Amino acid sequence: MKPLLEHIANAVNTPFFLYHESMIKSRIEDVLNVFSTVDFQPTFAVKANANPFLLSVFHAYGIGADFISRGEFEASRAGGIPTSKMTWNGNVKSEDDMLFFSKQGIQNVNIDSIGELQKWGHLKKNHNVPLPSLFLRINPSIEVSTHPYIKTGMKQHKFGISLHDIDTCLRIAQEVGLTLQGFHIHIGSQITDSDSFEKAYSTISKLSRQYGFTNINIGGGWGIPYFDKKQLDLQQMKSFVTSLFSHFRIWCEMGRYLIGEAGWYIVRACENRESEVETMCITDGGMNHLLRPSLYKAHHSFSSTDPIPQKKSVRIMGRLCETGDILVPSTVQNCPKEGSLIAIHQSGAYGFSMANHYNGFPLPAEVFLSQNGEWTIIRKAESNTCFLDQCDSGERYDITH
Ligand code: LLP
Repeated sequence: MKPLLEHIANAVNTPFFLYHESMIKSRIEDVLNVFSTVDFQPTFAVKANANPFLLSVFHAYGIGADFISRGEFEASRAGGIPTSKMTWNGNVKSEDDMLFFSKQGIQNVNIDSIGELQKWGHLKKNHNVPLPSLFLRINPSIEVSTHPYIKTGMKQHKFGISLHDIDTCLRIAQEVGLTLQGFHIHIGSQITDSDSFEKAYSTISKLSRQYGFTNINIGGGWGIPYFDKKQLDLQQMKSFVTSLFSHFRIWCEMGRYLIGEAGWYIVRACENRESEVETMCITDGGMNHLLRPSLYKAHHSFSSTDPIPQKKSVRIMGRLCETGDILVPSTVQNCPKEGSLIAIHQSGAYGFSMANHYNGFPLPAEVFLSQNGEWTIIRKAESNTCFLDQCDSGERYDITH
């Protein structure tokens, strides 16, 4: 792997993101297998990774797109995904976007609140445009074990409609002439215990029977093994899915599970600085490209092309002006030699998609490694001054008008 990585690094410069086709395919096959006994309509949650080339890989397997914004919508289109295979999620939706996406012919929308339901009623009354299929996102009040920032299914969270308000929603829908197609649920992200999904899936299947819906959108949330190596039990998931969903059409919006382990953030070790307790390996990457460790204290695993044995622990750091600019927290592991390449694992999901221009560094390249060993640049690195592009338009406004 070292010669190949060096070869790519020479061509695109570090840091960069690298994705491996075989891992993507194997995860797609895992998911398709879990749902093989039910009527299944998968979409990929574009927020996890919006690279159009990768979206086209999902599209080749019949996987549609779950998008949030016009940007993610355009990325999905660029990946060849037809609007008839797109689901729109969004915590708050503008009427302008509602009209735009309806005109584009998207397939489904998940309604997040009573206020939003009323807006759809308004749109129907005022515009003669076919609406997408309407799903009601419910908040089932289920506690899950994951970072607090990515739990979404409890009463105190801003997402979805409480179970007590379902009847009100159905009444409003009837009054404004809307037909709802089903319920949607998403209890959080990076969940590796299957019991939480069993609770969520049973709740939504029971409610759907009660209200006579035949479509269910189960969201995403499936966790992957990071440093802790905790894995979701797919056998169990298959048994819940088969027993709970056999009479339904099931939609999903899976992000991390499909792409997380298929991506690495590749950085170069620049300097090893010693403290009494550990070696701090400072790289040319940073939290500007891989924010998860700083934002959620996520612990990704790593490997390097030239590890040197040592007794102390090692911490992999970025080069930004923040003490919290950590890529991998303190770990007892061989230290990358200065000048070697380091692969931060599990970086395919919420890596590039959360990258930013902090400290004025450009966004990095993305590279795709095919099963046959060929590699392709699927996004070029930005120029050093790209973040200045929209500044100083020269327009002046007079505050007296
Ligand atoms: N559906 C909805 C409504 C969502 O909000 C999300 C993720 C997904 C599907 C996909 O979830 P997944 O299968 O990827 O868990 N930035 C965080 C993760 C935020 C997830 C936001 N919503 C992280 O890096 O861990």
